[in-house]
Amino acid sequence: MTTTPTTPAPPPAASAGADQRVTQPTSPNVPESVTYATALERSAVLDSLIDDSAARDPQRFRMLTGDRPTGPLHVGHYLASLRNRVRLQDKGVETFVVIADYQVITDRDSVGNLGENVYGLVLDYLAAGLDPKLTTIFTHSAVPALNQLMLPFLSLVTDAELRRNPTVKDELALSGSRPLSGLLLTYPVHQAADVLFCHSRIVPVGRDQLPHLELTRSIARRFNTRYAAGQSVFAEPEALLSDVPLLLGTDGTKMSKSKGNVVNLRDTADETAQRIRAARTDSERQITFDPVARPEVANLLTLAGLFLDQSPEAIADQVGNRGAAGLKATVTEAINEGLAAHRSRRVELARDPAQVTAVLHQGNARANAVAQRTLATVRAVMGMAY
Ligand code: TRP
Repeated sequence: MTTTPTTPAPPPAASAGADQRVTQPTSPNVPESVTYATALERSAVLDSLIDDSAARDPQRFRMLTGDRPTGPLHVGHYLASLRNRVRLQDKGVETFVVIADYQVITDRDSVGNLGENVYGLVLDYLAAGLDPKLTTIFTHSAVPALNQLMLPFLSLVTDAELRRNPTVKDELALSGSRPLSGLLLTYPVHQAADVLFCHSRIVPVGRDQLPHLELTRSIARRFNTRYAAGQSVFAEPEALLSDVPLLLGTDGTKMSKSKGNVVNLRDTADETAQRIRAARTDSERQITFDPVARPEVANLLTLAGLFLDQSPEAIADQVGNRGAAGLKATVTEAINEGLAAHRSRRVELARDPAQVTAVLHQGNARANAVAQRTLATVRAVMGMAY
């Protein structure tokens, strides 16, 4: 099922060019908003290219994306990424999903219950419609050859460019007084191995992940130049950004499981109702969509709109003058109906844990086969196949 680029013949010994300098990344001074706008435009083009090619050449756009197994997935994950993965899979895009267990230890000392979190992710993937026949679901730690790619990749980046990665800086700031670990600093390189081991061409990501993708592209380019005498061992992947607006938690701040402001996919309908009932709103009876003056109300309208496939303004009109209580009833119903099928499939799947675990084992085996092929190519071009 997998296609690998033709293995280039190993170059003559010592073609690596020991004196070749690592090049600086492209334009570190371009403002993030400009990069983001460009990436958004390109994502729209990519989406239509996928549509065009799906019928003819579905595997052209192999994609990889992933999640950190830090806890249960919530509605934000569902609306912004999970639904989209299933949509792309169903168009014939060959899909890889990494459960990024090595990324959990980038910024914390204890990993929590990793086994349970990983299992919960697989359940949600399957319940959402990822099909293990079409999608390879795997964990970092089970794929040694992927992890080994990090070594040559690390040789292609400078500490200066790692240190200025804005997402790493943000994550460091969020981890309190914790010092920067070597893994937090270098995890974007590890993430490049996630993307490149399977020759993924598109990477559905959130805005915060764009710097990592840029680094992945540099690594691909530099690898080809420095170690493969210009042969294209790795193609440069592209970001596919979601057009789902940023969703906030029920208290109007960033969604975060530790703040208890999220509705999880696995929650029951009653738990969902409770969570929405506790959501912050305002006392204005007439419900209007005004993200600036009424951000919490606007967020709930957006949430309902995404589940109902309607604009937030249309939802506001339907609620009319029924105030916060009317709004909350509408949102609760939208979420519960939107997730009903997912939740019942999840409960069904959880009846057979061995089956769920088998999906992961199968995915790990497939990812290992792909990673071993890529690593063999890498060792060959680097003159390391003894
Ligand atoms: N860092 C990503 C996140 O926190 C998860 C992830 C791991 C990922 N490896 C990836 C995303 C590779 C895209 C590609 O959401």
